[in-house]
Amino acid sequence: MSLGLLSTSVAHELNTPLAVLQGSVEKLLETIKDKPTLDRLGRMLRVTQRLRTISEGLVDFARVRRQETESLSLRSLIEESWNLVAIDEKAAVVNFANGVNEVHLVLGNSDRLVQVFVNLLRNALLAVAQDGEIRVESRQLSKNGERWVCCRVLDNGPGIPAHVIENVFEAFVTTRLDASGTGLGLTVAEGIVTQHGGTIVATNRSTGGAALEVTLPEA
Ligand SMILES: Nc1ncnc2c1ncn2[C@@H]1O[C@H](COP(=O)(O)OP(=O)(O)O)[C@@H](O)[C@H]1O
Ligand SMILES: [Mg+2]
Repeated sequence: MSLGLLSTSVAHELNTPLAVLQGSVEKLLETIKDKPTLDRLGRMLRVTQRLRTISEGLVDFARVRRQETESLSLRSLIEESWNLVAIDEKAAVVNFANGVNEVHLVLGNSDRLVQVFVNLLRNALLAVAQDGEIRVESRQLSKNGERWVCCRVLDNGPGIPAHVIENVFEAFVTTRLDASGTGLGLTVAEGIVTQHGGTIVATNRSTGGAALEVTLPEA
């Protein structure tokens, strides 16, 4: 069974019992009065929510598969991705710059690639401070006689924690132990980029902050 099919199956098997569990805990929260029990139920609800977030992440993971490819403007992909990420209120208080050269075209599937950049930009947005900076830049390069476009998502947050950076593309590697993290964002991103024949590398910048570098075939 493919990894994609396996993860969708697991997600579907998890969803119903999780919904039942969450419903029951919510019902109990309405009826129970004593404080220690309420605290425990609150924790159960948060953990249940976390499991649901992970389950949703598994469905995203399953969507990673080959689809139609076309010539795409990298600059537009970044613009579209940022618009999706900017639904978050915090986006209004950070400085975002799409420095991608207009002439840089990549070969790929638009929906899948938007998912990649949404994951990278969302991580950057979570990482930076209130007046932080997120910048995306691009350049062309030749490798093995082929033409590529290299795209870097840069931020000036604290950088990727040292204990995480080695395995950051592995599933469930996360420092967001509340309901907000699944540790699947970069796993999904890597899966999609790899299926495009490209590469993704995570580093920290010497000046501080993270640099996520995605290399895709040029159109
Ligand atoms: N731009 C970034 N700055 C700092 N840390 C990052 C950045 N991007 C990713 N990380 C770290 O990598 C971990 C894994 O990221 P990801 O796979 O997207 O999962 P999630 O965001 O659900 O935790 C994050 O929990 C965080 O610790
Ligand atoms: Mg993420």
